[in-house]
Amino acid sequence: MRILFIGDIVAKPGRAAVREVLPDLIKKEKIDLVVANIENLAHGKGVTVKTVEEIKEAGVDIMTSGNHIWAREEFADTLSNDPTILRPANYPADTPGYGFTYANVGKEKVLIINLLGRQWMNEPTDEPYRTVDAILLDQIEKEKPKVIVVDFHAEATSEKAAMGWFLDGRVSAVVGTHTHIPSADTQILPKGTGFVTDVGMTGALHSVLGVEPSIIIKRQKDPYPVKFEWAETGPKVFQSVLVKTKRGGGAASIERVDKTLP
Ligand SMILES: [Fe+2]
Ligand SMILES: [Fe+2]
Repeated sequence: MRILFIGDIVAKPGRAAVREVLPDLIKKEKIDLVVANIENLAHGKGVTVKTVEEIKEAGVDIMTSGNHIWAREEFADTLSNDPTILRPANYPADTPGYGFTYANVGKEKVLIINLLGRQWMNEPTDEPYRTVDAILLDQIEKEKPKVIVVDFHAEATSEKAAMGWFLDGRVSAVVGTHTHIPSADTQILPKGTGFVTDVGMTGALHSVLGVEPSIIIKRQKDPYPVKFEWAETGPKVFQSVLVKTKRGGGAASIERVDKTLP
């Protein structure tokens, strides 16, 4: 099976890059399943019904997220009822939304799990190791999925690497998101799990993580409050990884698929 995972799609340039790249890429690489992180989909923070529709039309099947998923009420009000959209599973159980879901690829059921890290991430989440253990224990018994993809949305590279090793041999791939900076460490861990510390971002190239650079410079240099403005012009990047799985569910390969668009 060929699974494409797209790094955090940020604002209008990110959605445009998905529309420009994804339909052809799906055909060319014979991709069976497209998963994308959408926490920054609608004007940089959160999601709306309209922006979700836009990327679904371009070919995105399952959407994961992270700490910014709560930015707009549309998530809690409506989108949290859509089982193709995830919020990290280690948020409290009484918060809206799904922490894991299934995608049907032919006769196969693919399990997708979303988790949030805790280092430098001030969110009210449970510890992700025990959360993922509980999901795997329960779901492997009930549904027996062979192909399992985990999006670990975290700041610290060490936390993401540790989760990769923790899940090695138990899931097909562990991919990191959240930093918006792609890492060059795609690898197959010893027991067969595909891993990358961070998939990166899909959005404006001339930006600081998607935000207009002058704003971030002001924020870091001066004591005055500044409003975030998302970079909306100039070249765009599409950053993703392609995971090919073997019959038993382990990863045969994981490689970066990155494109720069004018
Ligand atoms: Fe993000
Ligand atoms: Fe994030």
